[in-house]
Amino acid sequence: MSRFTRKDFIKKSGALFGGAYTSLFALDLIKAAPAHSFDLNRTKEGEKVIILGAGLAGMTSAFELTKLGYNCTVLEARDRVGGRCWSVREDSSNTETEFGTHTSAFDKGLYFNAGPSRIPHHHELTLHYCKELGVPLEIYNNVNEASYYFSEGAGPLSNKKIRAREIQYDIRGYMSELLAKAIDQGSLEMAMTQEDVDKVLNFLRAEGGLDPDDLYKTSTRRGYAKEPGVGAGEYSKAHSLSDILSSGLMEPDFYNVAEYTYELQMTMFQAVGGMDNIAKKLAEKIKPLIQLEAEVSSIKNTEEGVSVVYSTKDGEQKIEADLCICTIPLPVLSYIDHNFSGNTSRAIDYASYNKTGKIGLQFKRRFWEEDEHIYGGITHTNNELTQIFYPSNDYQSKNGVLIGYYNFGDKAEETGKLSYLDREKLALQKGSLIHPQYHEEFDNSFSVSWHKTKYSMGGWAEYNSRSRESVYKVLLEPDKNVYFAGEHMTYLNAWMAGAFESARSVVADIHNRVSGQHFNYPNTKG
Ligand code: ALA
Repeated sequence: MSRFTRKDFIKKSGALFGGAYTSLFALDLIKAAPAHSFDLNRTKEGEKVIILGAGLAGMTSAFELTKLGYNCTVLEARDRVGGRCWSVREDSSNTETEFGTHTSAFDKGLYFNAGPSRIPHHHELTLHYCKELGVPLEIYNNVNEASYYFSEGAGPLSNKKIRAREIQYDIRGYMSELLAKAIDQGSLEMAMTQEDVDKVLNFLRAEGGLDPDDLYKTSTRRGYAKEPGVGAGEYSKAHSLSDILSSGLMEPDFYNVAEYTYELQMTMFQAVGGMDNIAKKLAEKIKPLIQLEAEVSSIKNTEEGVSVVYSTKDGEQKIEADLCICTIPLPVLSYIDHNFSGNTSRAIDYASYNKTGKIGLQFKRRFWEEDEHIYGGITHTNNELTQIFYPSNDYQSKNGVLIGYYNFGDKAEETGKLSYLDREKLALQKGSLIHPQYHEEFDNSFSVSWHKTKYSMGGWAEYNSRSRESVYKVLLEPDKNVYFAGEHMTYLNAWMAGAFESARSVVADIHNRVSGQHFNYPNTKG
């Protein structure tokens, strides 16, 4: 039996109530994420591998290969590591193709994650590396029923903010009521026994919050008109199903948006202090190997290995190695000179990446918390904003940065065409329809349009069944001495887990080739 007392627990877990995941590890109350074992045997030493890109895939490859005795060099075009794993802070800057470089004016200590912002609880390898690298995690509140739905349109519930819980529980009630009526009318009697019908009816009554006549009238689940306290409180009135429907609140922008998808189900995590701490910690492990501001212009297979030309502040340089791992995003790689096979070259050129953008808005006051009781989570809209993300950190502090839009596809394309200032105007104009406090409290903004960002030129790889068979399969094989890695080389597109899985897979492939072993890395090529 454990001799660990409640007092010890309180003493040792000062940070626990801030959600510090590491303190749970320290207390040995949860086990390390059980990542796939990666016990490759070290054999001979000294093979030289040049790695293109100091994002998560490139740095993880270097980290793992170095453990095995390889001699790695990592070339990175940017003046920072991390690639898309990037948190915008005080003085961060980004360069977009059309509008040039801009620099953040956030206060010291404030940030938003311009790239990955959340880690699913089942992404074992991401959690594994956070633990191995000592990156503290905290809960990322992806699902918050206190946030809003905002539907621009013509219906009676349009153009006003409505708490997510009101819509969610009203819909759940009405759907349960409809099903209860259908079952009660005996239309399912052929398929079900009476006993099963009764069980389903009881379930629906509980699920939908139905009244004794199996009607959905309202429920305290949707919040109160007047909160209970010393007084009993007042029930709130349900929206009618026809108002919900005619206001667009049962359309795709508002369903299947958050907790329904496997990746977005709670529990989710984020790195304390910014997701780029994962990249920074990784970089610490392999610091001497990384060369920043080294922009690759040519990748050539040679008789003996590979030859890479790149430019630095000091001019053009050339480096030769036995093997190469190229993690450069495919829309960028497409413009780099190479001598790959026709198949590889076509695969690179035909790969498709999504368009996506985010804007961080710094406010003088955390009005979403103080005035509206929103602590983390996402407001969903059917306009250009698509989503507003509230920070899952530093609750109740003085000021903060929220993500004023996070959009995709056509909406991201249109937003990305706007200047930095016009994006800010759009985010403020549309956002203030939901939060009028924007007018008073706004400080400054920083936007990133990933498909226009130099050295990225896309959010993440997108495949359909045809490109999985062509582009993906071709690039899973090395082009002679050049291997391809990154989230685009997995089925975990848009996730850091993709970068980690891909790095391990390529390291295993290289090590098999060099050492003659047959280590079969799981989960990537299945
Ligand atoms: N992984 C991306 C996100 O969390 C798609 O939004």
